[in-house]
Parts: sequence; C-alpha cells; structure tokens
Amino acid sequence: MSNPRIVYLNGEFLPFAEARVPIMDRGFLFADGIYEVSAILDGRLVDNAAHLARLDRSLGEIGIRNPYSLAEWIALETELVARNAVAEGLVYMQVTRGVAERDFAFPSADTPPTVMMFTQAKNVSANPMAETGAKIITVPDIRWKRRDIKSIALLAQVLAKQQAAEAGVAEAWMVEDDAVTEGASSTAFIVTKAGAIVTRPLSTALLPGITRLSVLRLAEEAGLSLEERLFSVAEACAAAEAFYTSASAFVMPVVSIDGHVVGDGKPGPLTRRLRELYLGMARESA
Ligand code: PDD
Repeated sequence: MSNPRIVYLNGEFLPFAEARVPIMDRGFLFADGIYEVSAILDGRLVDNAAHLARLDRSLGEIGIRNPYSLAEWIALETELVARNAVAEGLVYMQVTRGVAERDFAFPSADTPPTVMMFTQAKNVSANPMAETGAKIITVPDIRWKRRDIKSIALLAQVLAKQQAAEAGVAEAWMVEDDAVTEGASSTAFIVTKAGAIVTRPLSTALLPGITRLSVLRLAEEAGLSLEERLFSVAEACAAAEAFYTSASAFVMPVVSIDGHVVGDGKPGPLTRRLRELYLGMARESA
C-alpha cells in the first residue's frame, strides 16, 4: 500500500487532509504571494538552486521576507520528496504574506508568511507529447505589467489554458503588440529556417524562465546560433521549428500554432537535440 501524501505547511510535514490554511490568508483573499516549481528527476531536484534564487527575488520584489535560507529550503524540499518517495515529478512551493484581517495594505511586520509545499508524481522525462509534439493556440496577453514576478495571481493564465483545453491543445502562447510574450506556463522559442534559436529577451513583460536559461547555455555550449529578440505569431507559424520550455515540460516541440503546421509537422531536429541536452544536464547535475 502506498503511503499517504505528505505536504509541508508552516514548519510541519502533514498528511494532505490535515494541512489547512485560514480563510484570511492573503494568498486566498488577494493572491498576495509567489510560487516556484522545480522538477524532480531520478528522485533529485533539477535546476533547483536557480528556482530558489528566483523565489528569493520574487519575494523581495513584493516585500515578503524570505522565511528560510537556501540550505533550509533545500533541506525541506529534499525531505518532502523523500517522504513522498517521488522519483519523477514536481515540487510546488508557495509563500504568501500570511494571515491577517482583510485590509489591502500589508499587515504588521511580525505577521509570519504562510509557507506551503507539495509534490506531484508525473512523467516529466518520458512524456509522450515530446514524441508527437504539442499543438498550441495563441491568445491576447491580458496580464499585469510585472510578469517577471512569479505571482500566484494566475487568472489570465487559467483562462488561456482553459481556451487551450477547449481547443484540444496543450498550451497557449500569449501575444502583445504583435509579439509573442511567452506561454501561459512556459517560455516560447522558434528556430528560423537559417537555424537560429530565437526567444524573447528578459524584461518585466515575461517570467525569467529557469529552463530558458539552461537551454540557452546548453545551446551556446553546443555552438548553436542564438537570437534574443521579439518574434510575431506569423514568424512562428513560418519558422522551421518551434518549442517551449518549463520546469514541467523541459523542452517541448510545437508542431502546430492556431492550426498552422510548423515545419513538417513533426518535432524538429534542433528541438530534439535541445531536449536531449537538457535531459542529460538534468540527470547529471540533479
Ligand atoms: N510555469 N512563463 C510562465 C508564465 C510560467 O508560468 C513558467 C513556468 C515559465 C517557465 O519557467 P521555468 O522554466 O522556470 O519553469 C515561463 C510553471 C512550471 C508552472 O506554473 O507550473
């Protein structure tokens, strides 16, 4: 029999059903908090130091004190992964501004943040969609202007993903001023017919993807050509290849955009190579 699912909440490892948060939690009332997602591969955390650095930055940007040191975060995540015996999947971490009477401005400085973590078992490396490629749609980017913060306020992404689900596709790329900003939960890339890997430069318009950073480093090490610049949906539809990256999808080939077939409709060779390079790095460094 498998053990009950254990989650982490405010200093305790608890059975899922016993982990409760008061209704006055500011995450619940205002989406006043941030989150992170790290992948687990072979029971180990992938690119985790970079995810924890981004968690620290997100907290700093919204004025929540980071409740733990880097070493404490790693110890808690590692224990949670072990307690749930997850070999492959995700760890989700969330910090909110804590529990206080409903009032928009920050509560008193001694209000402890709410810290919560759970794991999800999931096939991240042998994902069948990586073989067939993903179909995607595009939607207008209706989000706020600080998308560099990994905010738990995800309503625009929820609506975009629901549109994708209703269209029978895996992801939605969000578009603003005729340029793709990013996926609803991923970073967008294309490969030009000349073989250049193109992705949008970092700014407050998009999340600084941790997988993006590793993929760009791996591409550079492999001597591939890189261009950090904006691209349109029309350019993506006409590209040789397209793909997206995230902690949960790694490198996912895109084979159709709004019904337009990309390339020959199969995962492209450069995309496949980058996925292999990323998996290799994840297995070695995890
Ligand atoms: N999403 N852009 C957005 C809007 C995202 O939500 C994500 C990740 C990314 C990719 O970032 P990274 O490579 O660091 O995972 C880009 C996570 C996986 C999620 O919300 O589940």
